Amino acid sequence: MNKSYYLETYGCQMNVADSELIEKLLHSEGYKQTDQMEKADAIFVNTCAIRDHAEQKVHSRLGLFNRVKRENPGVIIGVLGCMAQNLKDDILTNKPYVDIILGPDGYRRLPEYLKRNNKKKHIVDTKLSRYEVYDDLFPSRKEGINAWVSIMRGCDKFCTFCIVPFTRGRERSRSIDSIIAEVSQAVSDGFVEITLLGQNVNSYQFNSIGFTQLLEAVSEVKGVQRIRYTSPHPQDVTEELLDIMASRNNICNSIHFPLQSGSDRILKRMNRTYTQNHFLAQVTMMRDKIPHIGISTDIIVGFPGETETDFQETLNVMNEVQFNSAFTFKYSGRPFTKAVEYPDHISENVKQERLERLIQLQKQHTLNKNSDLIGTAQPVLIEKESKKSSSHWAGRTDTNKWVTFKKESTKIKQTVDVDILKTSGISLHGEIS
Ligand code: 5AD
Ligand code: SF4
Repeated sequence: MNKSYYLETYGCQMNVADSELIEKLLHSEGYKQTDQMEKADAIFVNTCAIRDHAEQKVHSRLGLFNRVKRENPGVIIGVLGCMAQNLKDDILTNKPYVDIILGPDGYRRLPEYLKRNNKKKHIVDTKLSRYEVYDDLFPSRKEGINAWVSIMRGCDKFCTFCIVPFTRGRERSRSIDSIIAEVSQAVSDGFVEITLLGQNVNSYQFNSIGFTQLLEAVSEVKGVQRIRYTSPHPQDVTEELLDIMASRNNICNSIHFPLQSGSDRILKRMNRTYTQNHFLAQVTMMRDKIPHIGISTDIIVGFPGETETDFQETLNVMNEVQFNSAFTFKYSGRPFTKAVEYPDHISENVKQERLERLIQLQKQHTLNKNSDLIGTAQPVLIEKESKKSSSHWAGRTDTNKWVTFKKESTKIKQTVDVDILKTSGISLHGEIS
């Protein structure tokens, strides 16, 4: 059998990792990947529902897939992942050309559905599971530096803005044995950086093993040059976790630490379970333990009821912490969530204006943080050739910043010390020490 599939992936790294699982399942059915959707036997889109904008993008792609299907009526169209969960009714009523709708816990059944597909009836499977962690199913990875390794699925935190607990279901952790086996496999396949993934990685719990012990075990796998993880919840970052990070050379001095808002009143309405003071105390603890730790964050502006004073509190925290980088979002009302029912939504104009101020401030902080590195030597993992020059490499510091420098006689996947000489925009330039 010589069937081919075309797959597009939207959303977070978890979705990228899920797509690698899906590809593994498709390969074991004899499907081959193609970049040409017009020639594919099956077109899949792995979707994201986190904000309305992400959904709109998928809707527009589906319009295109529909046109492809008119030319090639035999093609199977599958909507996978978070949006399948969320929008199955809409798809069933308005998008009859979609053949398979499959939520994030149903991927194992995809091969069966491909065989069963009879063109007359849609297949809809959005059942969430309390147990599915795809423990025994190792992803099909393309060559590269970094391997995403999913350690848990779902979320039980129920932040009031977030759709994830509804699209990905209850929190569950994967066994440490299968995580370590997958990490070892990734290393023998040539990957040198491992990023542990979960909606709330520090809620990881398998029997008596928590996230800190898991991280320690991963750092002992031979050949792992770098370990990153995303994302922890600010409430659960402990001293023990930071001690392990500080004591292991191959765990990066870098943490993604989502603030969401700096105002206690808004944090409470978001059900974020920490206060501004607690967040700042956590940052102080991190910097005490790991002085040059790189801290990135996520911030939402225009959450329902956010006043100018609340927004100022967010700017204050940003000024205090000076994040290395920030993903910034306008609040987007999501179905099923508590916040979408709040009566005091903020106008689009105000959201936009606050977002712009936030981005401006973060830009300054990012530039300041980058300039602080001039004159220092940083360990850099060489990842690829610089886009601008074939005689230069591009690699990342362990605090996650891109640096370019002359190749000399080094090669990809090597870690070298680089003297940082100058910055331009958000990138750094240097030379091998
Ligand atoms: N609106 C805007 N941003 C959101 N996020 C999650 N839900 C929403 C929403 N409804 C952001 C949060 C989270 C990141 C992955 O996406 O900042 O940390
Ligand atoms: Fe969403 Fe909050 Fe869970 Fe993160 S912790 S996935 S923001 S509910």
